[in-house]
Amino acid sequence: MTDAPVDPTTTRAWKALGAIVTDGFDPDLRGWFDADPQRAERYTLEAADLTVDLSKNLLTEEVLGHLLDLAREVDVTGRYRAMLAGEHINVTEDRAVLHTALRRPSDGDLTPPKPFTVDGEDVDEGVHGVLEKVYAFADQVRDGSWTGMTGERIRTVVNIGIGGSDLGPVMVYEALKPSVQDGLEVRFVSNIDPSDVYEKTADLDPATTLFIVASKTFGTLETLTNARLARQWLWQGLADAGAIEDTDESRRGAVSKHFVAVSTALDKVADFGIDPDNAFGFWDWVGGRYSVDSAIGTSVAIAIGREGFEQFLAGFHAVDEHMRTAPLESNVPVLMGLLNVWYTNFLDAQTHAVLPYAQYLHRFPAYLQQLTMESNGKSVRWDGSPVTTDTGEVFWGEPGTNGQHAFYQLIHQGTRLIPADFIAVANPAHALKDGDTDVHALFLANFFAQTKALAFGKTADEVRAEGVDEAVVPARTFPGNRPTTSILAPSLTPSVVGQLIALYEHITFVEGTVWGIDSFDQWGVELGKKLAQEITPAVQGDRAALDAQDPSTRSLIAKYLDLRR
Ligand code: F6P
Repeated sequence: MTDAPVDPTTTRAWKALGAIVTDGFDPDLRGWFDADPQRAERYTLEAADLTVDLSKNLLTEEVLGHLLDLAREVDVTGRYRAMLAGEHINVTEDRAVLHTALRRPSDGDLTPPKPFTVDGEDVDEGVHGVLEKVYAFADQVRDGSWTGMTGERIRTVVNIGIGGSDLGPVMVYEALKPSVQDGLEVRFVSNIDPSDVYEKTADLDPATTLFIVASKTFGTLETLTNARLARQWLWQGLADAGAIEDTDESRRGAVSKHFVAVSTALDKVADFGIDPDNAFGFWDWVGGRYSVDSAIGTSVAIAIGREGFEQFLAGFHAVDEHMRTAPLESNVPVLMGLLNVWYTNFLDAQTHAVLPYAQYLHRFPAYLQQLTMESNGKSVRWDGSPVTTDTGEVFWGEPGTNGQHAFYQLIHQGTRLIPADFIAVANPAHALKDGDTDVHALFLANFFAQTKALAFGKTADEVRAEGVDEAVVPARTFPGNRPTTSILAPSLTPSVVGQLIALYEHITFVEGTVWGIDSFDQWGVELGKKLAQEITPAVQGDRAALDAQDPSTRSLIAKYLDLRR
């Protein structure tokens, strides 16, 4: 799939969608629901355990027909198949893109069938080999047979990573907190701001702490710096407690019991001093932001155990299979991706809100920011030519109901179109009551109310009918026709969390395919990293390095050096 991408703007479907807008597309969700009693049913779909209601989107049969044609014209299905088959669709890095292989079951009816060989390697053998090693290690930590230098069991696991080596694990850990083994806690250090590692370790006992250094490349400045700080903290703490001696051998012994690593660069892991036996590998065909279901999820596997992690992977796989087998008309990731294209490229939406009505999903929007924006924030296509239309939406969000009391005002009555995904689960982890009131039901009443208000609004006449002073009628009127997708799952199980992640991975894929971009590279993060390295001597007082900076950066650094005590 290294052929030149189809320019979506030249397709018949694109032109037809454009014509609908130029002819004065005038969304009318009230009218559409009145005219079509089947609308809710027709646009409510299932993907594994997820019920997805698309009916409150700015969608007509005509628009839908053209969006589906667009998917056909840019060959979303063909490109997905190419991805599953291990073709090098990550063109700029000349790599296969095989996160879907991370969750293939070890047996059963598989597509592609076994043996599945990519670039000369049996993919399933590699994936399941690493998984077994992760599970065996997780078992040891969970049952207390993995001990630290003093022979005590591990009570706190600290994952050190950033980007895909942090956002996925922390999001899933938070989402599945009720399933975490009692007596075990996982913390996450990501920022190179020293306050992060300081705060996360300040109250810990080194004797019962295990660090996982998670880095695909094992070359990321933030992660390696934090890993060295953590190692220093460990040595100091163990020495103060008399648990190690002042020798290299003793310190090496401490690292072997308190540090493990996850990386594709096992040679660099060894250079850091971590025993390769305590390292879990993965492959360059897994992008960082697509890696939580690889060994990068080791912290999660420790927290929820083998069975939980297997269910997590099964959830991903169920949605992969839905994406592969469901016809385009009922294919949830395809339709959600196409709707995003509709809003972005035809209705001028620039951002997309993701609003989980599940407190345990509070890190989901942050996770999606990397998944979607590092994937699709591109200005060139996979053949190097400029994109032909806008790409990438700004994803953002906070859990409901907190968002309702913060930024929903703008979604309801602002001048911008903000498509929003509402996500809820029917069964809470904690079924608390306030008197006779089921608090989760109260919570979900908000979930239902918000999408209703956004879709149908409140007319000026309805406001007047409440006896409102005419002068404030405009301020109290809600225009409606604000598009939302509602996603409802039975409960927040490991499987459902895997399903949600896979859903958004594939939505991202669909959008990237329409735009003709390589959603699997991230060259845009390189320049800043390189400049930070060049600037480091200047902020440490090197005069020549300071003089070499542009005037603005030079004066800012000079001010910093003045302020620094
Ligand atoms: O800088 C961006 C990035 O490369 C992400 O894509 C990646 O998830 C993150 O850095 C961390 O990289 P690594 O896992 O190699 O430390």
